[in-house]
Amino acid sequence: MGNRGYAIFIFGGSGDLARKKIYPVLRKLYKEDGIPNLKAVYGLARDENGIPELLKEWEEDFKKIFKFISFDVFSDESYNILAKEIEKLKGTELIFYLALPPTLFETTIRHLGATLRKFSNPRKIVIEKPFGFDFLSADRLNNVLYKYFIEDEIYRIDHFLGKGAVQSIFSLRFSNSIFEGIWNKNFVDHVQISALESIGVEGRAGYYDRIGALRDMVQNHLLQILAFIAMEPPCCLEPERIRDEKIKLLMSIREIRKKDVKNFAVRGRYKGYTEEEGVDPSLKTETFTALKLYIDNLRWQGVPFYLRTGKKLNRKLTEIVIVFKEIPGVFAKLLDCVPQPNVIAIQIAPKNVITLKIQLRPPAQRFISCPVESRLDFDLEDYYKEKIPEAYEMLFRDIIEGDHSLFIRADETLQAWKIVEPILEAWAEDDYIPEYEPGSWGPKEAMELIERDGRRWLIV
Ligand code: BG6
Repeated sequence: MGNRGYAIFIFGGSGDLARKKIYPVLRKLYKEDGIPNLKAVYGLARDENGIPELLKEWEEDFKKIFKFISFDVFSDESYNILAKEIEKLKGTELIFYLALPPTLFETTIRHLGATLRKFSNPRKIVIEKPFGFDFLSADRLNNVLYKYFIEDEIYRIDHFLGKGAVQSIFSLRFSNSIFEGIWNKNFVDHVQISALESIGVEGRAGYYDRIGALRDMVQNHLLQILAFIAMEPPCCLEPERIRDEKIKLLMSIREIRKKDVKNFAVRGRYKGYTEEEGVDPSLKTETFTALKLYIDNLRWQGVPFYLRTGKKLNRKLTEIVIVFKEIPGVFAKLLDCVPQPNVIAIQIAPKNVITLKIQLRPPAQRFISCPVESRLDFDLEDYYKEKIPEAYEMLFRDIIEGDHSLFIRADETLQAWKIVEPILEAWAEDDYIPEYEPGSWGPKEAMELIERDGRRWLIV
């Protein structure tokens, strides 16, 4: 399809995401010939906002194919200008990337779709998260998309699925009988998925304040990671079959009833958030959330999955921790040892590390000694002597190649909204939002959520 070349249109072309992630990745791919036949890159935005400064740093070759178009997503005139550019691109595949605030998706899709009616170029549309604001708006957004695009042309992007260690979950689980054999309720006590950030909203309050942590991180990133960790192996490696297993998993997550939300979900807000520029204190936006979920299927019945994410926390750490059941305490009884469970941890950020924690007798001790917790750290970049590409780079390659394996299908995003919606509804009716100290681990309620089950949050 792309033999006759590609043209990429970035809506929100002077925004944070475009400047910090999308252009650097496109420049890199262009330089390395990662997108053969990339003919043109357009940045579309109301104002240039830092683009002239960026251009000064760019390679001459890339500058030649880049064009900034002053663009208002609400104005017909803007789409006429866009149409004139498309006329010059006969036969070229058009890739439209909506790096826009979610409130602008619908309008942009309608106008863009109408504009494209008079062209026959192959096309793709990439949409950033959050996809909708709730189940209904996501459903409506899907329907608007289907007026102009077919599912095969749609790429709902979740950049966490572009991350190296996240992609390795698949082979770790499904290419190793030693792991696959224990990856179930018979061996696993519980699973923790944490995406902790040390930064605050950093000038993004205009976006974040209406969204909050549950919509920003859980509905998409964390539930996608959960799906990768807990799904069944697909019958075959076709993108649709992989997505079939993810949706099956999401549909097996036990519904949290609104009246039970307090027992399963916690929110929090860092002290000082309401003083940040652009924040409306009446919105009660959460900057932290922790959840407990159960998966009602044969593999996971009764195993809790604890999820947490937040801003202005103690450190940047994205990590999955799988805690195994305790071994019968024979040694413990005999020697007064404290047995620790085995743990497999997959660190996604700041590094890509798979850690295995085992109990081992220190080698110089007597034969019968207390085993101590010992760890095997497997740093993916060190071991393979390869730098793992940036998540957006991985995903751009997939978009170019038309591989949907790591993109979110319509039914997945709707199901993810179904999972979080009772929580959003319960919170909307509750004025109390616990605060936490910047630099801490979040509100004490998050500790209580896990501690009342006799467990604790772990950092591996
Ligand atoms: C984005 C969220 O999707 O992910 C941000 O909108 C968050 O609020 C970011 O900071 C975290 O991603 P990463 O790749 O920096 O861990």
